[in-house]
Amino acid sequence: MRRKFIAGNWKMFNGPKATSEFINKFSAEIKASPEVIKAVADGSEEIALFVPAISLTAAADGVKELPVIIGAQNCHWEKNGAFTGEISVPMITEVGATHVLIGHSERRHIFREINEELNKKVQAAVEGGLVAVLCVGELLEEREAGRAFDVIREQFIEGLKGIDAKTAAEKIIIAYEPVWAIGTGKTAGNDDAEEICGYIRKLTAERFDGETADKIIILYGGSVKPENTKGIISQPDIDGVLVGGASLKPESFIQIVKNAL
Ligand code: PGA
Repeated sequence: MRRKFIAGNWKMFNGPKATSEFINKFSAEIKASPEVIKAVADGSEEIALFVPAISLTAAADGVKELPVIIGAQNCHWEKNGAFTGEISVPMITEVGATHVLIGHSERRHIFREINEELNKKVQAAVEGGLVAVLCVGELLEEREAGRAFDVIREQFIEGLKGIDAKTAAEKIIIAYEPVWAIGTGKTAGNDDAEEICGYIRKLTAERFDGETADKIIILYGGSVKPENTKGIISQPDIDGVLVGGASLKPESFIQIVKNAL
């Protein structure tokens, strides 16, 4: 049985002060939810928050007594250097974060990040000991042109170049986020989401092997809310969710965590 992975992606919300406030409230919510504490303790569920770089320290310090994973939203592939505005994998690990999002659609489409760079980031992240959450997803026009599967295949294959099966199973998570469903209130239908997540598992079997495909964690993201979590998570190839807007309030994020149990 694969563990469930419930993650919040805060995007450019919550500086250090708001992060500490969130964590105080979220901590109270977790402590009041024995079923969540049990699921995390027995390894059946993981809870993660991907926070702005400037809030990583506040987040990692804040969750020291809590079963919550902290991750960054991006990283550079070099350890140090003349890369103004960037943060590196050793910097992320130094503050106590253990995961990193790579290739979120906002990084791909607003900041023009390309597969080749994303692959360098994935390799640097896993070499530096982080779990890399590689995000993939098609644009509306790509879906309408019948190209969704091709786009996902290319992002998956190119993004994971140089990664071996053991690393893929243990250190890579794939998040399928159709771009047209992000922040729009439009969730992919459960069948559409399952179709692509099932395809990603099939690609994993082809690119690596069946055992890796059984183990790899695949998430769905795009307008996930407490009300649609159960339907999404009950799909056989969807192991968790990556939540934007609805992860910004402790009350709604804990509800998603609970509905996913
Ligand atoms: P959303 O964002 O839940 O606000 O649609 C998801 C994401 O971009 O990770």
